[in-house]
Amino acid sequence: MNATMSLEKTKHYPVMLNQILSIISPQHGGTFVDCTFGGGGYSEAILKFPKTKVIAIDRDKLTYKYADVLLKKFPRRFNFFQEKFSNISKIVQENLKPRAIIFDLGLSSYQLSDEERGFSFESKNFLNMEMGINKYSAYDVVNTLDKEYLAIIIKILGEEKDGRIIANKIDKYRRKKTIKTSHELASIIKEAKRNYNKYKKNPATKTFQAIRIFVNQELTELMTGLIGAAKILSNGGILVVISFHSLEDRIIKNFLNLYSNLKKNPSRYVPLKENNTSLFKLVSKKPLLPDINEIKQNIRSRSGKLRYGIRNNNSFFYPNEFKNKFIKYFKLEDGIV
Ligand SMILES: C[S@@+](CC[C@H](N)C(=O)[O-])C[C@H]1O[C@@H](n2cnc3c(N)ncnc32)[C@H](O)[C@@H]1O
Repeated sequence: MNATMSLEKTKHYPVMLNQILSIISPQHGGTFVDCTFGGGGYSEAILKFPKTKVIAIDRDKLTYKYADVLLKKFPRRFNFFQEKFSNISKIVQENLKPRAIIFDLGLSSYQLSDEERGFSFESKNFLNMEMGINKYSAYDVVNTLDKEYLAIIIKILGEEKDGRIIANKIDKYRRKKTIKTSHELASIIKEAKRNYNKYKKNPATKTFQAIRIFVNQELTELMTGLIGAAKILSNGGILVVISFHSLEDRIIKNFLNLYSNLKKNPSRYVPLKENNTSLFKLVSKKPLLPDINEIKQNIRSRSGKLRYGIRNNNSFFYPNEFKNKFIKYFKLEDGIV
């Protein structure tokens, strides 16, 4: 199957679109940055409001297919960059004063169902897992990475307790034969997790997550992207982030809490204090979740968590506290344990 065919087959539903629109209120016009363009669901919905402009970013070159449609339809109000969002502060000029910067993390349905990318357990194509603009593929990682390092990646980035057992099994296999496909990798992991309850998720889920995150340096991208967005946003600008797994959500939650008007609450009986060195005003410390109707229509939305903060007037300062807290992810994804 070629990539274009699989792209046509799948429908992508923009997750929590109604909540996003009510937070960013595009009816008032302004410039919006869509950091994860994908199939263009958010960008298109924003551009339906006449006084808006959208700057969209996606690292995947296949998203040009969708960007071209909007470039033709809205030549003066839409701009697209095939880039990583960690470069946001180079792409978006600070004086543009975006009303909102939006991140909808992870993979699009198009990428997931594209057999050639090797994101799915069944894919018998080349073990790739690249979103775009990568240094290496999953094939390189599982076939060449040091066994100990592989175990750490699976354990930390997949939150997989059997990281070591799985890495050993992979190592044993690759000494005899190169691991070429995702299907082959999923079978090796299944073998390593023989006692896995068959009614739970696929036993390779966590390891696939770990390898995908590592190949795409997803946590470094997220942390750098959030810092870049905080730099660009000006008073009243809104940062909106949707995440789909706990590692990402923990980073976003910490970022917003550390740089928010609400200090950590020492006890639930003590009222929350204002933080003078904040960058964001938070309406709530709790994430918004998709409603049951959305989950019924689009099962992928079920693990979505939306958090947002409104930028205040304080000047940007480099968030060292945040970087130090998560330095282990920067190091891990950079190859330094
Ligand atoms: C969940 S999809 C976004 C779907 C989009 N909101 C829509 O409505 O169609 C995530 C997209 O973000 C892109 N992406 C993920 N990480 C990225 C990064 N670090 N830089 C740029 N794009 C990224 C992926 O390539 C994918 O197309």
